[in-house]
Amino acid sequence: MSTTQTFESISRLRCIACGATPDSASRDFRCTACGDLLEFFFPGWAFDSPAFDPATLKALWLSRCTSRDALDQSGVWRFRELLPHIPEEHAITLREGNTPLYRLPRCARAAGVENLRAKHQGMNPTASFKDTGMTFAASFAHQGRFAWVACASTGNTSASMAAYAARGNMRSLVLIPEGKISWGKLSQSLDYGALTCQLRTDFDGCVRILNDLVRQKPVCLLNSVNPYRIEGQKTAAIELMEQLAWEPPDHIIVPGGNLGNSSAIGKALIEMRDLKLISRLPKLSIIQAHGANPFYRSVREFGGRKLEAMTADTLATAIRIGNPASWKKALRVLQATGGEVEEVTEIEIATAKAEIGADGIGCEPASAVTLAGLKKLRRSGFVKPGEAVVLILTGHALKDPDFTIKFHRGELFADTAVAGTSIAGTPEETEAAQAKYLQRAPVVLDADLGAVIAALDAAERNSELCS
Ligand code: F0G
Repeated sequence: MSTTQTFESISRLRCIACGATPDSASRDFRCTACGDLLEFFFPGWAFDSPAFDPATLKALWLSRCTSRDALDQSGVWRFRELLPHIPEEHAITLREGNTPLYRLPRCARAAGVENLRAKHQGMNPTASFKDTGMTFAASFAHQGRFAWVACASTGNTSASMAAYAARGNMRSLVLIPEGKISWGKLSQSLDYGALTCQLRTDFDGCVRILNDLVRQKPVCLLNSVNPYRIEGQKTAAIELMEQLAWEPPDHIIVPGGNLGNSSAIGKALIEMRDLKLISRLPKLSIIQAHGANPFYRSVREFGGRKLEAMTADTLATAIRIGNPASWKKALRVLQATGGEVEEVTEIEIATAKAEIGADGIGCEPASAVTLAGLKKLRRSGFVKPGEAVVLILTGHALKDPDFTIKFHRGELFADTAVAGTSIAGTPEETEAAQAKYLQRAPVVLDADLGAVIAALDAAERNSELCS
């Protein structure tokens, strides 16, 4: 249809700070005039073109759900009218997106809201939300005929990049902080054939090396400063609105690390509102771990005027980031949607993760900050009991089984040090003790029917006591 062609061809790059509109991006995806980040905009959308009819687009996207075409089956490329144009022959897809929206009844009770759902981006091909941006950015790299793609990562970006590079016959270079990412994530990038370098530094140190590297070597940078990543990640919000029959919730809550995801979801919401695909904006709130909270501090202490980098530390290793690249983009969407920023403790994260697990869903620790944050936002009155809330769960429970096992065995906080800080004698120690009711350590028994029946009866009595 003609609408499709018209809207595919009119994206431009623009600097978020000085407004420069370069024809193409430099290798580090920074503005050559002022050094800030670039973003895509779509000049044609401003003209309120009669060819652009929200109902027609919604019907087109829905019709693709029954198509056998690989691009139509992708939950990213299905919405290609809202993305920059990349020729089909360069598209690398693993049928990403298409992730479920679940109700969370137990978590809703724990948080004190009636209508709580989770969009589980951990149900993507490499088990994290990164795939929606990676399919698009890797395709851009393919179009640019790059032999190598590269990223710095806390583990999920690298797993995703390595998979898409392999599918697109490109080589991938992964820079990860040594000893600070989960084994599951590391194993993925090895299996997908990446050159995996564990650097003796943290995530922010890996980013610094990579930025210097891309200036010297012809590798395509696939971190979320690459604006193609942001465009692909927008589709999580588009798909969510479609799942909600285009009726926005009151709140969407996301974890904040490098702040690419919040920027992408916010950008999509604003664009959908401008294009009249939705009638109002949900409030987009961003939650950080207390030990990795530079954005929280930027907003709360400096009104978003500056961001002070910090040395980050949290057991939610995916968001162990002290100098988030996309903080200005995230600030813009926070302000545009009227969202809030919160921080949560290690114990709040671990408790929330177990609660999401107890709803039969599960997620990795960084995703659980959303529920922990929701509880705080309820307590502060920012979220009202009757409001509709959607949590964005960013990674699958199996991404970090070590964390889960330690929690259930009561070992996560047993050394009384959470992310380097002793909790002995602090309110956190009491909180950690309170989380015990969620712990279900495995029971080791003799291979004996009587022993299993006794365990079953004991569990039954326990649950009666707890109810
Ligand atoms: N949740 C998970 C599971 C993540 O892996 C990340 C980031 C985030 C949340 C935060 O998203 O950075 O867009 O604000 N992981 C990156 C990585 C940094 O390298 O895998 P963000």
